[in-house]
Amino acid sequence: MLVNELIQKTEQSKLQFEYPYTLSKQEIAKLDAVIRQNGLPPPEEMIDLPPGGLKLISFKIFDAHNSLLFYYPSPVSNADLDYTFPFQSASGQHYRIATFSTPPSPFLSKLFKRAASIQAGLLVLATLLLSLTLTWLITKPLIQLGELGRRYLKLEKYDQEPLKLLARRDEIGALGREIAHLIKTVEEQKQKKQEILNDMLHEIRTPLSRLRMATSLFEQDPTSELDEFLVRIYQEFERMETLTQQILEQSRVEAAEIQSEFLDVNKFLRELLRDVQFEFQQASIDASFPDTPQIITATNRELLRRATENLLRNACKYSPRHESVFVGITNHDFYIRICIDNAGKGISTQDIEKLMTPFYRLSISRFESGFGLGLDIAKRAIEFNNGRLTLEKSSRGGLLTKLDLPAISPNYTPAFSTRQQRDERTGHESITADFRKADNLR
Ligand SMILES: Nc1ncnc2c1ncn2[C@@H]1O[C@H](COP(=O)(O)OP(=O)(O)OP(=O)(O)O)[C@@H](O)[C@H]1O
Ligand SMILES: [Mg+2]
Repeated sequence: MLVNELIQKTEQSKLQFEYPYTLSKQEIAKLDAVIRQNGLPPPEEMIDLPPGGLKLISFKIFDAHNSLLFYYPSPVSNADLDYTFPFQSASGQHYRIATFSTPPSPFLSKLFKRAASIQAGLLVLATLLLSLTLTWLITKPLIQLGELGRRYLKLEKYDQEPLKLLARRDEIGALGREIAHLIKTVEEQKQKKQEILNDMLHEIRTPLSRLRMATSLFEQDPTSELDEFLVRIYQEFERMETLTQQILEQSRVEAAEIQSEFLDVNKFLRELLRDVQFEFQQASIDASFPDTPQIITATNRELLRRATENLLRNACKYSPRHESVFVGITNHDFYIRICIDNAGKGISTQDIEKLMTPFYRLSISRFESGFGLGLDIAKRAIEFNNGRLTLEKSSRGGLLTKLDLPAISPNYTPAFSTRQQRDERTGHESITADFRKADNLR
């Protein structure tokens, strides 16, 4: 209700209004206009108007005879509000409007104070809740991140990822993923280093044991051909050098960068069998190769040698005396298969599944020296060459090992350059090709 209407109604009905009466924003604006017309300071200077809020202003309206028509005591105490100004109604009557500061009523003032304190309490509570939520949202994941780091420092196995934390889409999630990635990379590098060390120590034992064999054979028969033993000793030292160099290179060269080569598997296996036979003098190795002079496969010679040598040595080592070890090569459409079969006392299927696990050995093999790493090394070396190693129960009670390697048909003309070369020291012949350009290889 506007002041104008208020007066109009007062004029018409001569009624006194019930109060307290709350002025609307509009009414305040009207009152403001009235105050301005009368050259008084605007209400915002007189009273502290909250933006858009309602304001209670204490005021009285007197008629021309100075009798009180309307009285509204505001519960809000507004200081310096004692202004009086004349006002003429639409009917031409003269009035006087007086705004004034009222001492607030004790009840209302208490009510307002209580409301204010409740408001303040709620504010404190909201702030507390907000800070608790923020703490929960930020501190908890940070603690989890710290936990990750601590676990890693304590060298505990990093097996369980805090999935919830890593799935977060905010910066903390991103930081968590970075840390998890970092830890994984470090873990992998650590594992790789251990593997390299194991491989190196393991593989170096083979030429060493052949060296021992050479010297003991010579010891047994000093009249035998010295040259033959010297060649063997020279070859084994060569082998050790190649091995250490190759294993060290493997640690810094990415798989894609290692150059592959074509090789004649028949020739390759024959050379290898000579070495294995030298170490296992008593073993009877029965090899059957196809007549075709070359079965060509694209692989890395050193890794293939490492794998095949371990498998052949196992077959000789675990084969019962007087039982032959069979080695065969079969040519298939897309792969060549090397089969190695030895007799034995029987191996269970469950055992076969575990044989490729590092350090796993069958109890019946405890009398033979070994670490249980040969098959793991062979498997990794073959997989590195895109091949596959399968272990099966042999019908002769031992192990049947199948080594499949991707083959290239002898008639295949590669659409990329190849280079034939001979290593003067080892006498190995190889054809080197750049496979990075050869998309049509297989
Ligand atoms: N040809 C095989 N015939 C029978 N058992 C085998 C054969 N090859 C492997 N095994 C069994 O699998 C186990 C693991 O073989 P692996 O070559 O990994 O290790 P290892 O020969 O014991 O030791 P090394 O680390 O010296 O190779 C052997 O201990 C043996 O019990
Ligand atoms: Mg072995």
